[in-house]
Amino acid sequence: MKKINIAIVGIGRIGKIHLNNMLRYFPEANVLAVADLNYPIADFKKEFPNLSFSSDPAELFANKQVDAVVICTPTSSHAAMIEMAIQSGKHLFCEKPVDLSLQRTKVLVEKAEAAGIKMMLGFNRRFDPDFLTAYKNIRSGRIGDVQVVKITSRDPGLPPLEYIKNSGGLFMDMAIHDFDMARYLMGKEVKEVYAKGLVLVDPKVKEAGDIDTALTNLLFEDGSYAVIDNSRKAVYGYDQRVEVFGSKGMIQVENNLHNRNVVFDSEGIHQSLPLDFFMDRYAASYLNEMRYFVDSLVNQAPLPVGGLDGLKATLIAVAAKKSVEEGRPVLISEIS
Ligand SMILES: NC(=O)c1ccc[n+]([C@@H]2O[C@H](COP(=O)([O-])OP(=O)(O)OC[C@H]3O[C@@H](n4cnc5c(N)ncnc54)[C@H](O)[C@@H]3O)[C@@H](O)[C@H]2O)c1
Repeated sequence: MKKINIAIVGIGRIGKIHLNNMLRYFPEANVLAVADLNYPIADFKKEFPNLSFSSDPAELFANKQVDAVVICTPTSSHAAMIEMAIQSGKHLFCEKPVDLSLQRTKVLVEKAEAAGIKMMLGFNRRFDPDFLTAYKNIRSGRIGDVQVVKITSRDPGLPPLEYIKNSGGLFMDMAIHDFDMARYLMGKEVKEVYAKGLVLVDPKVKEAGDIDTALTNLLFEDGSYAVIDNSRKAVYGYDQRVEVFGSKGMIQVENNLHNRNVVFDSEGIHQSLPLDFFMDRYAASYLNEMRYFVDSLVNQAPLPVGGLDGLKATLIAVAAKKSVEEGRPVLISEIS
């Protein structure tokens, strides 16, 4: 079996998921090194006694045996990590978004392309089994020509204000997944963005310079449409639903619940709440996306989602922010 050597940088919430998946499910991917600026070394040694650890990511990029790097550090450091990966000739998987600056994103995507570096982006929702089935049903023509996609994407609660301040804002941090999903399901490019941003959850979000609720309309080049509904706080859990309406029918993807019991009594009909948050709701998608990345390294399979997709989603996020600020529809061509 051909093997590749992988390194992971950043083992916080998402990095841990990727690290554990690599160790458990990919015998062809050898985790050669892990780096994290702040992770306590003693804890790491206890949890992963057989892995090599460094608090300096540069060491990991300097290691000539490493073939590819999985970048899971905070967004503000992605650009520096991607630069180092390109400089050291390592293929990379990077969590979303590529960077908060559109210009830097463009430059990094072009540099990786020119250097022949494979750059996969962590738009994991594409690989969720239910969304993947919706995608296949759409592509097979089962619901005819797609006219409208509706995406509901609500977090279960506000992240810490410190996180919000450094996140790049709701569109760049959270809705970017939904912008990618809309492009992916439609298989078309966005022409115009019209968004409304609100603070309905907590006025502190406004003080932090962000919004906590957004309604975004995407007009595609062929006149079809997407409507995206985001909130940072749904009291009933992580609300992730999609509806796709076409000339021959409709597809609905409902929430994944803690269990499938439906209890009927004299008060009403009761079901469990949706799964709590991304770690459990999207567990299968994180595993599936890594399967694609490893497959592209080991078997030269094409990457299913790359830097250019990251750039296009970032363009939509920038246009959405501009639309809120200026209170008008914004053409993507105005941004690019
Ligand atoms: N695809 C998804 O569903 C998803 C979910 C959550 C987060 N993310 C993205 O993943 C990235 C990380 O988010 P998170 O929630 O895991 O963050 P986190 O804060 O939980 O983890 C980040 C880790 O990186 C380490 N770190 C910080 N700066 C570093 C540096 N310069 N070098 C090395 N290590 C460094 C921190 O010590 C921490 O352990 C963000 O870009 C975020 O947008 C994606």
